[in-house]
Amino acid sequence: MIAPSILAADFARLGDEIAAVAGTGETRADWVHVDVMDAHFVPNLTLGLPVAKALIDSTDLPIDCHLMIDDPDRWAVGYAEAGAYNVTVHAEAAKDPVALAKNLRAAGAKAGLSLKPGTALEPWLDALKHYDTLLVMSVEPGFGGQSFIAEVLDKVRTARRLVDTGHLKLLVEIDGGINSDTIEQAAEAGVDCFVAGSAVYGAGDPGKAVAALREQAARGRAG
Ligand code: DX5
Ligand code: ZN
Repeated sequence: MIAPSILAADFARLGDEIAAVAGTGETRADWVHVDVMDAHFVPNLTLGLPVAKALIDSTDLPIDCHLMIDDPDRWAVGYAEAGAYNVTVHAEAAKDPVALAKNLRAAGAKAGLSLKPGTALEPWLDALKHYDTLLVMSVEPGFGGQSFIAEVLDKVRTARRLVDTGHLKLLVEIDGGINSDTIEQAAEAGVDCFVAGSAVYGAGDPGKAVAALREQAARGRAG
Protein backbone atom coordinates (compact mmCIF):
# COMPACT_ATOMS: atom_id res chain seq x y z
CA MET A 1 0.00 0.00 0.00
CA ILE A 2 1.15 3.53 -0.83
CA ALA A 3 0.14 6.54 1.29
CA PRO A 4 1.23 9.85 -0.27
CA SER A 5 2.02 12.48 2.38
CA ILE A 6 0.51 15.86 1.58
CA LEU A 7 3.28 17.49 3.63
CA ALA A 8 5.15 17.68 0.32
CA ALA A 9 2.10 18.90 -1.65
CA ASP A 10 1.13 22.47 -2.54
CA PHE A 11 -0.73 23.65 0.59
CA ALA A 12 -2.65 26.24 -1.45
CA ARG A 13 -4.19 23.44 -3.55
CA LEU A 14 -4.61 20.53 -1.16
CA GLY A 15 -7.90 19.29 -2.64
CA ASP A 16 -6.38 19.13 -6.14
CA GLU A 17 -3.24 17.48 -4.82
CA ILE A 18 -5.29 14.70 -3.22
CA ALA A 19 -7.34 14.36 -6.41
CA ALA A 20 -4.04 13.81 -8.29
CA VAL A 21 -3.62 10.47 -6.45
CA ALA A 22 -7.34 9.57 -6.33
CA GLY A 23 -7.79 8.35 -9.90
CA THR A 24 -8.52 4.79 -10.87
CA GLY A 25 -6.24 1.82 -11.39
CA GLU A 26 -2.59 1.63 -10.48
CA THR A 27 -2.14 5.39 -10.07
CA ARG A 28 -4.65 5.47 -7.20
CA ALA A 29 -3.20 5.80 -3.69
CA ASP A 30 -4.35 3.42 -0.97
CA TRP A 31 -4.42 6.03 1.81
CA VAL A 32 -3.63 9.74 1.97
CA HIS A 33 -1.27 10.60 4.82
CA VAL A 34 -1.96 13.86 6.66
CA ASP A 35 0.78 15.09 9.01
CA VAL A 36 -0.53 17.06 11.98
CA MET A 37 2.25 18.92 13.83
CA ASP A 38 1.79 21.21 16.83
CA ALA A 39 5.18 22.99 17.17
CA HIS A 40 5.56 21.29 20.59
CA PHE A 41 6.01 17.57 20.01
CA VAL A 42 7.97 18.46 16.85
CA PRO A 43 9.57 21.78 15.85
CA ASN A 44 7.14 22.43 13.00
CA LEU A 45 3.52 23.47 12.61
CA THR A 46 1.22 22.22 9.85
CA LEU A 47 -2.53 21.91 10.19
CA GLY A 48 -5.14 20.83 12.68
CA LEU A 49 -8.61 19.35 12.95
CA PRO A 50 -10.60 21.85 10.82
CA VAL A 51 -8.30 21.38 7.82
CA ALA A 52 -8.05 17.62 8.34
CA LYS A 53 -11.85 17.41 8.45
CA ALA A 54 -12.16 19.40 5.22
CA LEU A 55 -9.70 17.02 3.53
CA ILE A 56 -11.55 13.95 4.84
CA ASP A 57 -14.79 15.33 3.43
CA SER A 58 -13.16 16.21 0.09
CA THR A 59 -12.19 12.69 -0.99
CA ASP A 60 -13.28 9.07 -0.92
CA LEU A 61 -9.70 7.95 -0.24
CA PRO A 62 -9.08 6.80 3.34
CA ILE A 63 -7.29 9.52 5.34
CA ASP A 64 -4.39 8.45 7.52
CA CYS A 65 -3.83 11.10 10.20
CA HIS A 66 -0.35 11.11 11.73
CA LEU A 67 -0.53 13.17 14.90
CA MET A 68 2.87 14.56 15.88
CA ILE A 69 1.38 16.39 18.84
CA ASP A 70 1.57 16.57 22.62
CA ASP A 71 -1.34 15.19 24.63
CA PRO A 72 -2.83 12.93 21.94
CA ASP A 73 -4.97 11.40 24.73
CA ARG A 74 -6.96 14.65 24.60
CA TRP A 75 -6.94 15.49 20.87
CA ALA A 76 -6.75 12.31 18.80
CA VAL A 77 -10.35 11.15 19.13
CA GLY A 78 -11.55 14.31 17.37
CA TYR A 79 -9.83 13.12 14.18
CA ALA A 80 -11.58 9.75 14.46
CA GLU A 81 -14.92 11.49 14.97
CA ALA A 82 -14.18 13.64 11.91
CA GLY A 83 -14.01 10.47 9.83
CA ALA A 84 -10.30 9.72 9.55
CA TYR A 85 -9.75 6.12 8.48
CA ASN A 86 -6.65 5.63 10.63
CA VAL A 87 -5.45 7.87 13.46
CA THR A 88 -1.84 7.41 14.56
CA VAL A 89 -0.46 8.82 17.80
CA HIS A 90 3.11 8.81 19.07
CA ALA A 91 4.07 6.36 21.81
CA GLU A 92 6.43 9.02 23.18
CA ALA A 93 3.53 11.43 23.71
CA ALA A 94 0.64 9.18 24.76
CA LYS A 95 -0.09 8.90 28.49
CA ASP A 96 -2.39 5.86 28.27
CA PRO A 97 -1.92 4.26 24.83
CA VAL A 98 -4.28 1.35 25.52
CA ALA A 99 -7.19 3.57 26.56
CA LEU A 100 -6.42 5.83 23.62
CA ALA A 101 -6.58 2.94 21.14
CA LYS A 102 -9.91 1.84 22.60
CA ASN A 103 -11.29 5.38 22.31
CA LEU A 104 -10.12 5.70 18.70
CA ARG A 105 -11.74 2.41 17.77
CA ALA A 106 -14.96 3.33 19.62
CA ALA A 107 -15.07 6.51 17.54
CA GLY A 108 -14.90 4.43 14.37
CA ALA A 109 -11.26 4.71 13.31
CA LYS A 110 -8.35 2.34 13.09
CA ALA A 111 -5.79 3.06 15.81
CA GLY A 112 -2.12 3.57 15.01
CA LEU A 113 0.92 3.81 17.27
CA SER A 114 4.11 5.47 16.00
CA LEU A 115 7.68 5.10 17.21
CA LYS A 116 10.42 7.67 16.58
CA PRO A 117 13.67 6.21 15.17
CA GLY A 118 15.30 6.01 18.62
CA THR A 119 12.28 4.47 20.38
CA ALA A 120 12.53 0.71 20.97
CA LEU A 121 9.66 -1.57 19.96
CA GLU A 122 9.75 -4.05 22.86
CA PRO A 123 8.27 -1.81 25.63
CA TRP A 124 5.20 -1.22 23.44
CA LEU A 125 4.41 -4.79 22.42
CA ASP A 126 1.61 -5.25 24.98
CA ALA A 127 -0.03 -1.94 24.04
CA LEU A 128 0.26 -2.82 20.35
CA LYS A 129 -2.19 -5.69 20.88
CA HIS A 130 -4.85 -2.95 20.92
CA TYR A 131 -3.65 -1.26 17.72
CA ASP A 132 -4.35 -1.75 14.01
CA THR A 133 -1.27 0.03 12.69
CA LEU A 134 2.36 0.34 13.77
CA LEU A 135 4.00 3.40 12.17
CA VAL A 136 7.76 3.04 12.21
CA MET A 137 9.40 6.44 11.68
CA SER A 138 12.43 6.22 9.41
CA VAL A 139 13.35 9.90 9.91
CA GLU A 140 13.04 12.18 12.94
CA PRO A 141 9.46 13.44 12.76
CA GLY A 142 8.95 17.08 11.84
CA PHE A 143 10.02 17.60 8.25
CA GLY A 144 9.75 16.00 4.83
CA GLY A 145 12.67 15.40 2.52
CA GLN A 146 15.06 13.85 5.06
CA SER A 147 17.29 10.82 4.50
CA PHE A 148 16.06 7.31 5.31
CA ILE A 149 17.44 5.77 8.53
CA ALA A 150 17.93 2.11 7.61
CA GLU A 151 18.54 1.00 11.22
CA VAL A 152 14.80 1.18 11.93
CA LEU A 153 14.27 -1.82 9.65
CA ASP A 154 15.20 -4.06 12.61
CA LYS A 155 11.94 -2.92 14.24
CA VAL A 156 10.08 -3.65 11.01
CA ARG A 157 11.54 -7.18 10.85
CA THR A 158 10.57 -7.89 14.47
CA ALA A 159 7.05 -6.56 13.97
CA ARG A 160 6.67 -8.54 10.72
CA ARG A 161 7.67 -11.74 12.53
CA LEU A 162 5.20 -11.07 15.36
CA VAL A 163 2.41 -10.45 12.86
CA ASP A 164 3.26 -13.50 10.77
CA THR A 165 3.29 -15.73 13.87
CA GLY A 166 -0.06 -14.37 15.05
CA HIS A 167 1.26 -12.50 18.12
CA LEU A 168 0.20 -9.12 16.72
CA LYS A 169 -2.54 -8.26 14.27
CA LEU A 170 -1.64 -4.96 12.62
CA LEU A 171 -0.33 -3.27 9.50
CA VAL A 172 3.31 -2.25 9.52
CA GLU A 173 3.66 1.25 8.07
CA ILE A 174 6.88 3.19 7.47
CA ASP A 175 7.29 6.97 7.20
CA GLY A 176 10.26 9.07 6.15
CA GLY A 177 12.71 9.03 3.27
CA ILE A 178 10.80 6.45 1.26
CA ASN A 179 11.66 6.73 -2.45
CA SER A 180 12.86 4.60 -5.35
CA ASP A 181 16.23 4.07 -3.61
CA THR A 182 14.82 2.88 -0.28
CA ILE A 183 11.41 1.30 -0.81
CA GLU A 184 12.67 -2.13 -1.85
CA GLN A 185 14.71 -2.69 1.31
CA ALA A 186 11.75 -1.56 3.43
CA ALA A 187 9.46 -3.93 1.55
CA GLU A 188 11.91 -6.78 1.98
CA ALA A 189 11.95 -6.11 5.76
CA GLY A 190 8.17 -6.55 5.81
CA VAL A 191 6.47 -3.16 5.50
CA ASP A 192 2.80 -3.24 4.42
CA CYS A 193 2.17 0.47 3.92
CA PHE A 194 4.66 3.06 2.66
CA VAL A 195 4.25 6.78 3.34
CA ALA A 196 5.94 8.89 0.67
CA GLY A 197 5.92 12.68 0.56
CA SER A 198 8.62 14.12 -1.67
CA ALA A 199 8.82 10.94 -3.78
CA VAL A 200 5.16 11.42 -4.78
CA TYR A 201 4.54 15.17 -4.74
CA GLY A 202 8.05 16.07 -5.88
CA ALA A 203 7.46 13.97 -9.01
CA GLY A 204 6.06 15.46 -12.20
CA ASP A 205 3.05 13.14 -12.07
CA PRO A 206 2.06 12.10 -8.52
CA GLY A 207 -0.23 9.31 -9.74
CA LYS A 208 2.53 7.76 -11.84
CA ALA A 209 4.88 7.98 -8.85
CA VAL A 210 2.35 6.04 -6.76
CA ALA A 211 2.17 3.30 -9.39
CA ALA A 212 5.96 3.09 -9.73
CA LEU A 213 6.54 2.93 -5.97
CA ARG A 214 3.90 0.23 -5.52
CA GLU A 215 5.43 -1.88 -8.25
CA GLN A 216 8.89 -1.50 -6.72
CA ALA A 217 7.57 -2.43 -3.27
CA ALA A 218 5.99 -5.58 -4.70
CA ARG A 219 9.37 -6.49 -6.19
CA GLY A 220 11.10 -5.93 -2.83
CA ARG A 221 8.49 -7.98 -0.99
CA ALA A 222 8.88 -10.87 -3.44
CA GLY A 223 12.62 -10.77 -2.64
C1 DX5 B 1 7.72 13.65 8.70
C2 DX5 B 1 6.35 13.19 8.27
C3 DX5 B 1 6.34 12.46 7.01
C4 DX5 B 1 6.87 13.23 5.82
C5 DX5 B 1 7.63 12.27 4.95
O1 DX5 B 1 7.69 13.99 10.04
O2 DX5 B 1 5.78 12.36 9.24
O3 DX5 B 1 5.07 11.91 6.72
O4 DX5 B 1 5.88 13.83 5.04
O5 DX5 B 1 8.20 12.98 3.92
P1 DX5 B 1 9.26 12.29 2.93
O6 DX5 B 1 8.58 11.17 2.27
O7 DX5 B 1 9.62 13.41 2.02
O8 DX5 B 1 10.42 11.84 3.79
ZN1 ZN C 1 3.92 11.30 8.68
